[in-house]
Amino acid sequence: MEFATQAWDLFMSDCLYPFRAVATGVGVVYLLKTVCSTLCFLCPFIKAYVLAPLGIFRPNLKKYGPWAVVTGASEGIGRAYAIQLAKRGLNVVIMSRSREKLEKVADEIKKYGVEVRIIPVDFSSGAEIYPEIKKQLQDLEIGLLVNNVGLSYEHPEFFLDVPADRLRNILEVNCHSMVQVWI
Ligand SMILES: NC(=O)c1ccc[n+]([C@@H]2O[C@H](COP(=O)([O-])OP(=O)(O)OC[C@H]3O[C@@H](n4cnc5c(N)ncnc54)[C@H](OP(=O)(O)O)[C@@H]3O)[C@@H](O)[C@H]2O)c1
Repeated sequence: MEFATQAWDLFMSDCLYPFRAVATGVGVVYLLKTVCSTLCFLCPFIKAYVLAPLGIFRPNLKKYGPWAVVTGASEGIGRAYAIQLAKRGLNVVIMSRSREKLEKVADEIKKYGVEVRIIPVDFSSGAEIYPEIKKQLQDLEIGLLVNNVGLSYEHPEFFLDVPADRLRNILEVNCHSMVQVWI
């Protein structure tokens, strides 16, 4: 205890003033850096989960163009994207294989007073589908693409055991579609 008191007295003595000033400066800089980096880390979460639901800092997605395209939009994440984009006032093009399922999603989207266009398409069918997609999209001013359609293994297995046609389909759906939809 006495040692601690002596050390503190020495630290606070006039002769160590410059050292104390430097140490305090370093401490303040470090504290500010930590606070800033914590705020930077939390900022996207605060914006997305606190401010955006309150209508503050909600990005204006229409600035990119009045139409959005969502692939794999008849179910799951793609469907949710399509509906959320419609809620924010964007017209939406939705694509997937099943016309019937797309029509159901289109009915939901129309409730938000926006336009919707459906394109039934199988992205595993190869390059021949893209001219038709292009024809269907060419009169639209598209600002956003949600390239959601995707395929994986049916169950976990070694790469060498995956059937070749499954691998081809994965490449077609996951990679080819991503570059081709924009071209
Ligand atoms: N859910 C997850 O936990 C998770 C995790 C990581 C990544 N992802 C990725 O996120 C994306 C969406 O996942 P999800 O769970 O929402 O999938 P999902 O519920 O199975 O929906 C897939 C959508 O893609 C369409 N689709 C499937 N194959 C297609 C094809 N060959 N051509 C055109 N459309 C096709 C389906 O509609 P039709 O049947 O009518 O064609 C459906 O609308 C996928 O790319 C997935 O790999 C998901």
